[in-house]
Amino acid sequence: MKLNIVLATVLFASTAYGQTPSPATDVEKLPNDHYGKLVRYGKKLTEETYSVIGPEVTNKKMRYAGNNFACTSCHQDSATKKFAMPWVGAHATFPQYRGREDAISTIEERVNGCMERSMNGKSIPLDSEEMKAFVTYIHFLSKGIPVGGKVEGQGLPAFNPPNRKADSLAGEKIYANTCASCHGIDGAGLRKGKPGDANGYVFPALWGKDTFNTGAGMNRILTASIYIKTNMPQGTSHGSPVLSDEQAYDVAAYILSKPRPVKAHLEKDFPARWNKPVDAAFAPYVDGSSAEQHKYGPFQPIMENMKQVKKDMGK
Ligand code: HEC
Ligand code: HEC
Repeated sequence: MKLNIVLATVLFASTAYGQTPSPATDVEKLPNDHYGKLVRYGKKLTEETYSVIGPEVTNKKMRYAGNNFACTSCHQDSATKKFAMPWVGAHATFPQYRGREDAISTIEERVNGCMERSMNGKSIPLDSEEMKAFVTYIHFLSKGIPVGGKVEGQGLPAFNPPNRKADSLAGEKIYANTCASCHGIDGAGLRKGKPGDANGYVFPALWGKDTFNTGAGMNRILTASIYIKTNMPQGTSHGSPVLSDEQAYDVAAYILSKPRPVKAHLEKDFPARWNKPVDAAFAPYVDGSSAEQHKYGPFQPIMENMKQVKKDMGK
């Protein structure tokens, strides 16, 4: 009897916090009511963004994304993979303080953050069916997780960068050996069909015109390094990395040294300068280090400088 209660508690706890939902099957089980329909539409928008709101869709009014990515180009496994910025539990973490805006942001604003930067596009209207669908899908993936509840694998793991400047020449070699087979030696990825058909990518582009822009989280070397170390080459997961910290750092430098769409007005990001990330490689540089150093490191000296900036600003 006692054992049963303990077991039940453990099972309940693991549903609430530990278990990753398997949206593919769970979404199909949902009834065909308003909620079920929106979850299904949200999942489709997440996996096939390019075919519904991408830059090549027939209905010009629906062209919200500026590249042919899917949200799942980064948020792998329908946005459920641990340490690939999963949306499991994300609904319960909003509204939240965001340094980039120095304000409390809603989950809709967070979706539009990725729309304008990772997807190099424009905001989706708040009252649109598409925004409701994204938010409802995130809500579905967050079921059972209370406000303040911790989910293992949220966001990305911490990254402790090597104490040196990243070496994009070494990165070029790693790229040729470990990445180019999928993403192409020219970084353009591999389209499913051909440009113009709104069918997206088999392997998404890493640089060039059709990729994330300079305002994206992925354009920051520390974010890109740990994303790559944890999740690339495809099939890699946390705990079984293929690249070392050093290799991930260098290959990220190589990718970020290449041209990509430019986001205007980045100087408006992080208006409370004391919490600007050390690897946000756009002006103003409040700690006095160069643009080059904010892009490629070494970051330890900047981290030290930022402690002083914080003190000076009373934080
Ligand atoms: C180029 C990679 C990339 C793509 C594509 C992308 N995102 Fe993101 N997304 C990120 C990164 C990196 C973070 C977390 C780090 C950050 O805040 O910059 C993030 C975070 C998020 C979060 C917050 C998760 C949390 O735990 O707080 C949401 C919600 C989100 N993205 C939605 C979307 C949606 C919706 C799409 C598609 C329309 C999308 N993203 C496409 C890279 C991407
Ligand atoms: C076996 C094929 C394969 C290899 C090899 C591979 N990737 Fe990827 N990569 C993918 C796929 C597919 C995605 C989209 C996410 C998914 O479906 O898993 C992706 C997504 C990405 C993304 C985020 C989306 C984008 O286009 O910006 C980055 C960054 C990335 N890969 C970097 C790398 C790096 C760096 C390497 C080499 C260390 C690498 N990949 C090796 C298949 C691969």
